[in-house]
Amino acid sequence: MKKIILANWKLNPLTLTEALRLSKKIDPKPFHETVVCPPHLFLSHKLYPKMGAQDCFWLSQGPYTGQVSPVMLKNLKIKYCLVGHSERRTLGESEEDVKKKVQALLTVGITPVLCIGFNTTVNQDDLEVVNVLKGQLKSALQGLEEVNLQKIVVAYEPVWAISSGNPYATKKLATPEHASKIALFIKTKFNIKKVIYGGSVNAVNAEGFLQESHVDGLLVGGASLIPADFNKIINTKV
Ligand code: PGA
Repeated sequence: MKKIILANWKLNPLTLTEALRLSKKIDPKPFHETVVCPPHLFLSHKLYPKMGAQDCFWLSQGPYTGQVSPVMLKNLKIKYCLVGHSERRTLGESEEDVKKKVQALLTVGITPVLCIGFNTTVNQDDLEVVNVLKGQLKSALQGLEEVNLQKIVVAYEPVWAISSGNPYATKKLATPEHASKIALFIKTKFNIKKVIYGGSVNAVNAEGFLQESHVDGLLVGGASLIPADFNKIINTKV
C-alpha cells in the first residue's frame, strides 16, 4: 500500500551544489509518495518532483523581516509544509502561531503537516501522552471545518525520539504498535484522515512502522540525508 514519506532535511546541506548532488541520488520514482523538504533557500530549485517546506509565516506579505509567505510557497508549487515541528516549538513557536500557520496554509491550498509530540518531562504512560497530544491538536485545529480537517496530515513524533538514533527509547512507547494506537486515536477523535510517524526512523525500522495500517507514512530526518538508506525506506513495499 502506498503511503507518504517526507524527507526533513532540517538545516542541511550547506550549499546548493550539495543539495543538488544529494537530491539527484534520491529515487525520483519510488514506491511511496515522496516529498523532499529542504531549507527554504533551496526551494526555488526543482530538487525533486515533489517538494515541501519546513515552515512558513501565517501572513502573505508585508513588513515581516525574515519570514516566508505561504503564497510564495504556493507560487513555487510547494505541496506540503511542516508546521509546529518540535525543533521550532523549542525555539519559541507558540500553539497560537501553529494554529495561524495551519489556517494560512489551508487558505492557499498547501497541505499542512502538523507536527505534534510529547517531551521527556511528560510522564511516559499512554494516558499522559494522549493528554498532551490532545491539547496540541485541540489548539491547532480549533475552529476548522471538517472539510479542512480532512486535508491535514498529522505527524506524530515523540520528541525524545527525534534525532536520538533510538525510536525505542522506552520498550513500550514509540514502537510501531504504539504509533498505530496513537494514529488511530488521532483519526477517530479529531477527524483526521492521515497520520504519519517520525523520530529516528531509519532503513532498518521503517518497515515496521509502514506495516501498521493506521500509520499513513513517515517523517524522516537524519536518514533522509543518506541516499542509500532513504531509497530503501521509500521503496519498502508493504
Ligand atoms: P530524525 O528527525 O529522523 O532525525 O529523528 C525526524 C524529524 O525531526 O522530523
